[in-house]
Amino acid sequence: MKRIPIIIDCDPGIDDTMMLMLAFSREELDIRLITTEAGNLTIDKTTYNALSFLSYINKRVEVAKGLSQPIFRQQEVAEDIHGEGGLGNVEWAVPTFEASERPAIQAMYETLMQAEMPITIVATGPLTNVGALLLAHPEVKAKIARISWMGGAAVGGNMSTTAEFNAYVDPHAVELVMRSGVPIIMSGLDVTHKAYITREEMTQLSQLETPFAQKVANMMNFYTFTQKQTPFNPPYFEEQIRVHDVSAIACLVHPEMYRGDDYFVEVELEGRLTQGATIVDYAKRSGKTPNVHVLHDVEREKFIALFFDAVMKIGNTL
Ligand code: RIB
Ligand code: CA
Repeated sequence: MKRIPIIIDCDPGIDDTMMLMLAFSREELDIRLITTEAGNLTIDKTTYNALSFLSYINKRVEVAKGLSQPIFRQQEVAEDIHGEGGLGNVEWAVPTFEASERPAIQAMYETLMQAEMPITIVATGPLTNVGALLLAHPEVKAKIARISWMGGAAVGGNMSTTAEFNAYVDPHAVELVMRSGVPIIMSGLDVTHKAYITREEMTQLSQLETPFAQKVANMMNFYTFTQKQTPFNPPYFEEQIRVHDVSAIACLVHPEMYRGDDYFVEVELEGRLTQGATIVDYAKRSGKTPNVHVLHDVEREKFIALFFDAVMKIGNTL
């Protein structure tokens, strides 16, 4: 099997851990490095959560701690959605290993430059680390196969009515990535809102017998409740739950499940109402060369099957 080498940059966060679960359940993925950044929570919490979750699922990959603040903007976290600890009040494991000596940017740089082939970067938080990497070391661009980012939205938002959280928190990092010339796959809210789990499926999840599945169900119950509180989700979201970050991995292992198109995308850096909005030229009127493959549809049932398969696979290995 030709494996896909990846670096995962994340801000665990409930849905980030579900993304990690899917990634580690897939043999075709060769996970070279995990980096953390501030986003859902402060950098110390996101780094602890990555080490804790990986320790629980018995996976040992270098975890390098990233930047603690957005490039320019003041930090804003999402403890209202993920809980004070960040994993829905679920205790995973006391970490059995520590974060790397190398800071994230150095670890990303060295991993990319030493790789025998270009590496895919999967980014499921603000793009602070990736943006800073590209600014500090533009020579790595040739070593990045593509960036699969959960973030942004062609329409709507969940941090404001116009901006998705990861883009809102650090729009300047988004700008650095969008203008980099590196191929980008964007799993924005347009597609992640369609990859929802129903209440019935949540009930099925809670009936899976492994301790791991029970912890996942508990964490997702917390997430279901807090997602309802998000003021910018349309009311019909009441009975559904969205594990946004999972799509950034799912679209790599099952691209046929997704539909998208190439568009020119730029980001609003400053705006009383529009800061962090990803402006997707989906009418293709700008005349500018498309820089992002924007996903806008997913076969939901296949996505759910993939999710449940990962829960069972990981749960049965512990
Ligand atoms: O808007 C959803 C994104 O913001 C996800 O990555 C979630 O983990 C939060 O970081
Ligand atoms: Ca995230």
